[in-house]
Amino acid sequence: MFDPYEIRKDFPILNRRVKGKPLIYFDNAATSQKPIQVIEAIRNYYMYYNSNVHRGVHTLSQEASQLYEDAHDYVAKFIGARSFREIVFVKNATEAINLVAYSLGLHEFGEGDEVLVTLMDHHSNIVPWNIVSEVKGFKVKYVNITGDGRIDMDDLYSKLSSNTRIVCVPHVSNVLGTINDVKLIAKAAHEVGAYILVDGAQSVPHLPIDVRGFDIDFLAFSGHKMLGPMGIGVLYGKEEILSDMEPFLGGGDMISSVSARAREGFNIIYNALPWKFEAGTPNVAGAIGLMEAIKYLERLGMDNVRRYEEELVRYTIEKLGGLDGVEFYGPRDPSLRCGVVAFNVEGLGGHETASLLDDYGIMVRSGHHCAQPLHEFFRINNSARVSYYIYNLREEIDVFIEALKEIVVMTSEL
Ligand SMILES: Cc1ncc(COP(=O)(O)O)c(C=O)c1O
Repeated sequence: MFDPYEIRKDFPILNRRVKGKPLIYFDNAATSQKPIQVIEAIRNYYMYYNSNVHRGVHTLSQEASQLYEDAHDYVAKFIGARSFREIVFVKNATEAINLVAYSLGLHEFGEGDEVLVTLMDHHSNIVPWNIVSEVKGFKVKYVNITGDGRIDMDDLYSKLSSNTRIVCVPHVSNVLGTINDVKLIAKAAHEVGAYILVDGAQSVPHLPIDVRGFDIDFLAFSGHKMLGPMGIGVLYGKEEILSDMEPFLGGGDMISSVSARAREGFNIIYNALPWKFEAGTPNVAGAIGLMEAIKYLERLGMDNVRRYEEELVRYTIEKLGGLDGVEFYGPRDPSLRCGVVAFNVEGLGGHETASLLDDYGIMVRSGHHCAQPLHEFFRINNSARVSYYIYNLREEIDVFIEALKEIVVMTSEL
C-alpha cells in the first residue's frame, strides 16, 4: 500500500490554507488535483518540444508526434485495450460520448430503434442521445434504479429487446458512488445485438480497468479527474466498430487524401484509426500530461488506489451513519461503491451546506451534480458531495465529520 503522506508532497496545492484553515479538498469527482510530475511534464513539453504533430519532417515535429503517439499507447495499456488504434483523444468524457452519439447514432440509428440510459447517468450520457433522437426519431428509454442506488437489473432486462441499439451506463455513479457490473450489462446488451457504452469518468481514475475483460464496446473518460490536465479525454472503442463508424469532426489530419477532381464532388479518403476521429491540431500537451498522470497512478498500482479509497468510504459511511440530521445516498456496503458520498443536512440545501463547510476549509461540491433524473428519483433538488482521491486522509474525514456535527447543531437551533 502507498503512503498518502508521501503522495501529498507531490501536490503543492495541498499546502494551501483556505479561510485560515488547512485546505481539505473533497471535490475530486469534479476534478482531481495535479502532481508536480504532471505539471513539469507539461511545462517541459512547452519549453523543449513544442511543435505541431503529424505535419512536419523536422525534428521538433517528429519528437512531439512521438510523444503524442506514446500517450495513446500508455492509455491503451492502462485500460487493457488491444492497441493505440482503439484510443481516440478528445476534450473530455462529454465529447467522447457525443462522438459516439453522432458518429453512430446519427448515421446508423432511426425510427423504431431504442437507446437505453439509466436514471443514474450524468447528463453527458443522457443529453447527447436525446439531441440525436430528435433528429433520427429513435427512442431514449430510462432504466430504473433501486432504492439503495443500484441499477435495477430486472428493469434493464425487461427493457432490452431486439430494438435496443446501444446501452449507455455509468461505470461508477458520480453521486452515489455505486460501482456497476459493466461486464454483466455488456453481456446482456450483446445478447440482443446492442452495443454498450460505458461512462468511465468516475471509474477509470479509481479502479483497475480492463476493457477486453469487461467486453465493452466504448469507454469514455476525462484526464482531469485522474491527475491529468483539463482539455484531454479519451474515447476507447473496439477497433472493428470504430473502423466502420463515420467520422465525428472533419478537417486536417483526419483524412489520408482529399481531391476536388472526383466526378461527383469531393473525393475523400479518411485516415487510419485513431486519427480518423482526431480532426485538427490536438491537445499535445494534454496528452503528455495524461501520460504522466497514468505513470503516476501505475506506480501506486490501481488495486492499491481502489483499496485505499474503499477504506476512506467505509470510514465515512460508518461516521455518517451515526449522525442524526444527515441523510446520505447510495449502497451501504462500501465494497459496492467508490469514494463518492452525496448527502444532505436536514433543513439545509446542498449549496448552504457546502458554503458552511467552506468556512472550515473543506471543499465539497453541491447542486444536482449534472444528474437531475437521479435527484428526481430520490425526490430531492440537490445534495452536497464529498469525493476522495489518493491524497485524502482519515484525519480529514474526522475534521469533516466534526464540522458537520457543528453544522447540524447550528441548523437545529435556527
Ligand atoms: C459520471 C460522469 N460522466 C461524465 C462526466 C463529464 O465529464 P467532463 O465534464 O470531464 O466531460 C462527469 C463529470 O463530472 C461524470 O461525473
